[in-house]
Amino acid sequence: MVEETWFGVLAEYMARQQAGLGEEVAIMTYDDVEYSERFDYNDNSKQQAPGKETKRVDGRHFLGTYGLSADEIDSLLNLAEYYCRVNNDSASLPLEVLRGKMLANLFFEPSTRTRLSFARAAVNLGGEVVELESKMSSLVKGESVLDTALTLQAMGVDALVVRHAAAGVPAFLAHSLSIPIINAGDGAHEHPTQALLDLLTIRQEFGRLQGLTALLLGDIRHSRVARSNLYAMRTCGLRVRLAGPPTLVPEEMTRLGAELAPDVDGALREADVVYVLRIQHERQQAGMLPSLAEYRSFYGIDARRQFLLSDKAVIMHPGPINIGVELTAEVYASARSRVLRQVSNGVAVRMAVLHHLLSGPRN
Ligand code: NCD
Repeated sequence: MVEETWFGVLAEYMARQQAGLGEEVAIMTYDDVEYSERFDYNDNSKQQAPGKETKRVDGRHFLGTYGLSADEIDSLLNLAEYYCRVNNDSASLPLEVLRGKMLANLFFEPSTRTRLSFARAAVNLGGEVVELESKMSSLVKGESVLDTALTLQAMGVDALVVRHAAAGVPAFLAHSLSIPIINAGDGAHEHPTQALLDLLTIRQEFGRLQGLTALLLGDIRHSRVARSNLYAMRTCGLRVRLAGPPTLVPEEMTRLGAELAPDVDGALREADVVYVLRIQHERQQAGMLPSLAEYRSFYGIDARRQFLLSDKAVIMHPGPINIGVELTAEVYASARSRVLRQVSNGVAVRMAVLHHLLSGPRN
């Protein structure tokens, strides 16, 4: 179905422009993402967004961590920390923050954690959630993503949580809708709530973010989680190192303030946070990865590599995990693993983001 591809979205945009229906809007393509990666962040650790076309956050939507300030991140994490405590006391739930408000989950790619934790977050805040099953919706009859979103808005839905395989779809919708759009993962571009829940997990562990060293390990090229984390981690003062097969670790990411770490074992010894990324089978191009067995032996975290870590270091992974490839089952279950803590924090972080965007009277 054409609308589910980037080209479908673009074609629709062009048609609307020609019909005079659209305003000037910047659409992110994968090339634009690469373009934004060409900016040199080393000279500007405050990371101001370089221009309108790459700015992701305008206070009304939540499209990326790129351009978020350290203060904005800090205040979202503080609110999430508060919601962690509230969530531990189930008697106080649901809250009233989103009373009468409805969130719609629009997922065009599979998801367990992100989709359900947005739903849980909305319910905890006293709101409601509708799930659009794309295969059971009018998308199957050829309705476009944009018209689907406009339809939900016309029904009085208060915000859309959007996941799509094409980079730029949430930004595209944000230009055409008046309700908040939250990016739940767009292609290999951004996944901002994942990065926030990761930072919350790290902050809880070490009591700070500034000065820590994070090693992002694995399929960086195809990872929206790596990009959102890199932007946010650098803004919050972490040192970010990247390791993985050279075909899956773009050198351009050093311009965003990351360092390449070709010696994996050495980098593991120096890391406070080992952030392991999934091999993205669905986004692989031929020739990028010789075999999973080879990947496992060069980059997989097993008992031997775990032994290299410093006493306080933790292991994180956004999930879903290819057990036995990126991590062994015993490392996943070990005392260093924070994978399930990340999941719990995901609910609190999404409550903070929803609160930020949706509390208060309707516009
Ligand atoms: C990630 C995603 O979908 O981008 N998962 C998640 O949201 N927890 C990472 C992945 O799929 O590897």
